[in-house]
Amino acid sequence: MDYLTLALAKGRTAEDSINLLNKAGIHFDSLTEDSRKLVFHDDNNMIQLIFVKAVDVPTYVENGAADLGIVGKDNIMEEQPDIYELLDLQFGKCKFAVAGFTGTELDTNKTLIVASKYPNAAKKHFNRKGIPIHTIKLNGSVELAPIIGLSDVIVDIVETGSTLRENGLSVLEEMEAISTRLIVNKASFTTKSDSVHTFIHTLKNSLE
Ligand code: PRP
Repeated sequence: MDYLTLALAKGRTAEDSINLLNKAGIHFDSLTEDSRKLVFHDDNNMIQLIFVKAVDVPTYVENGAADLGIVGKDNIMEEQPDIYELLDLQFGKCKFAVAGFTGTELDTNKTLIVASKYPNAAKKHFNRKGIPIHTIKLNGSVELAPIIGLSDVIVDIVETGSTLRENGLSVLEEMEAISTRLIVNKASFTTKSDSVHTFIHTLKNSLE
């Protein structure tokens, strides 16, 4: 039997993802928090784990380099990959929001300049509302953009809200609720049907 390759997002949800896998009886022996290793194996369950940047998980799964992926809905919405999204794993909960200076409102009489790690999701949101925007793609510390005059507002994920607060910003408009999802490559879903379904079933049971 071949290994099933699972792409797992590094960063904020990695620990919860590993805990869920462990609860499901999937263990990677040499996996430690400070390890720089990127590939791990569970030979009992025939699972190969690869650690990739969250933003890249949809790409690995869409292209079949990974059969499965565990990643936030934010990255799925941004990348719009051609995959199956099969389970809401119920952790990494946060929300997409438009944020700007506390006490201000969205100025919809002009083309808004929106900085974001998620320019596609931002465009989609404002298009739906018929508000013209110009997006600026950033890769982190997005809250800095309005402060430094790079943008009018930001579109970002908000979890505790402390990054916004500590930078004099507030949510001006809530967008979608976000959580971590299990995604599957479309071809693997068919060609590796048995092992993919066993994996999904095992994970589902551990959620309940
Ligand atoms: C995310 C997000 C916000 C922050 C929100 O950034 O882009 O900056 O977390 O969390 P909070 O509401 O709990 O403060 P991340 O920590 O992933 O780092 P980054 O700025 O380098 O992208």
